[in-house]
Amino acid sequence: MRNFEFQNTTKIIFGKGTENRVGEEMSRIGKKILLHYGSGSIIKSGLYDKVKDSLKKANIEVVELGGVKPNPRLDLVKEGIELCRKENIDAILAVGGGSAIDSAKAIAMGVPYNGDVWDFFERKAEIKAALPLGVILTLPATGSESSTRTVISNTELGKKYGAGSQLLRPQFAILNPEFCFTLPPYQTACGAVDMLSHVLERYFSIEKDSDLTDRLCEATMQSIIKNTLLALKNPHDYAPRSELMWAGTIAHNDLLDTGRTTEWSCHSIEHELSAKYDIAHGAGLAIIFPAWMKYVYKRDVMRFAQFANRVFGVSMDYQNPERTALEGIEQLEVFFKRINMPVRLSEVNIGTEDLGFMAKRCFRGNPDGTLGTFYPLNTEDILNIYKLAL
Ligand code: NZQ
Ligand code: ZN
Repeated sequence: MRNFEFQNTTKIIFGKGTENRVGEEMSRIGKKILLHYGSGSIIKSGLYDKVKDSLKKANIEVVELGGVKPNPRLDLVKEGIELCRKENIDAILAVGGGSAIDSAKAIAMGVPYNGDVWDFFERKAEIKAALPLGVILTLPATGSESSTRTVISNTELGKKYGAGSQLLRPQFAILNPEFCFTLPPYQTACGAVDMLSHVLERYFSIEKDSDLTDRLCEATMQSIIKNTLLALKNPHDYAPRSELMWAGTIAHNDLLDTGRTTEWSCHSIEHELSAKYDIAHGAGLAIIFPAWMKYVYKRDVMRFAQFANRVFGVSMDYQNPERTALEGIEQLEVFFKRINMPVRLSEVNIGTEDLGFMAKRCFRGNPDGTLGTFYPLNTEDILNIYKLAL
């Protein structure tokens, strides 16, 4: 096992009725706050009124900025930064999915920075300060509720990049699974793929001796698969919704990369798809991950066979472990199809035209570099993966 540090400081407040604690929790970090949210799902569900009520009871002054779009945009981030400066905002509350949270994080780091917030995403500046954040999550998927990362789309440049710092970790995250009852099946499925991908990016590690983390990853993946099918069947069933909500946090709170190297090439390859075609992150990952697996599995056939055996119960063929490994990849694709996710670029009307351009962009302007650790990919490898996904 590799040496590691593990620190996740986000206080998780989980369960029914927990949204009513937002005023009390927010009052610990701010007196005048920005309430940041998406395009209206929280108003329809009644969460907005509950949040406003709780903040009012805690005597917190509220300035609002709604309208965050999926694949959150830099334009709104800049508007939020100006608004926070003008109104002397001292903390931000994000209510919604990963997009609302990521947009809030980008605003939080942009307010104290004397320059263009996009500098952080181009790695031209280091995050040295940020406003404190609180979160109410309504979509288990990204893990942004307790992660250090934010991913923002710059539509002017056609780029979607991430930035991160411990300073962006929310102070608290309120998770009430009841607010997932209104999620459309498509968003539930996209969320499941994203969570699974966060575990897979950690599972396919070059580290051999990390058994406990392997087993934690396997349990998390099995729980996501089982409970996604249950939640899609009975959207108002609290039990599977709560398992998924907790799994989404566990999948991306850094516990599952303890003692090992991690991968993340599929995320970079997917972000190019979302940047270019504005497709949902989870749907993009459902297309990219199986293609990446088919391309790289020979690097460590036994790890892929272990995945097949322990996650999908494929019997281990000791004479021919490659057969077991390939069966595991097939099973993952079957699961994605069962939850109505696309598994080929052609299903989302993407052809060959931009593949070369996207393959180069994955390196953030460094075409001589490689991507990932399990199988360091060069531009040609990435192009081959895109082609395998056609
Ligand atoms: O905008 P509203 O009206 O709220 O509607 C949203 C949106 O249309 C809707 N929704 C959310 N909760 C709902 C609901 N609809 C009904 N009932 C509810 N309870 O769902 C739609 C999608 O929301 P969005 O926030 O975009 O989805 P998600 O949580 O999947 O976030 C995706 C973004 O997060 C980034 C992705 O790249 C993408 O931009 N990621 C962030 C990460 C991080 N910060 O650590 C890591 C991830 O790997 C990922 O890259
Ligand atoms: Zn993701």
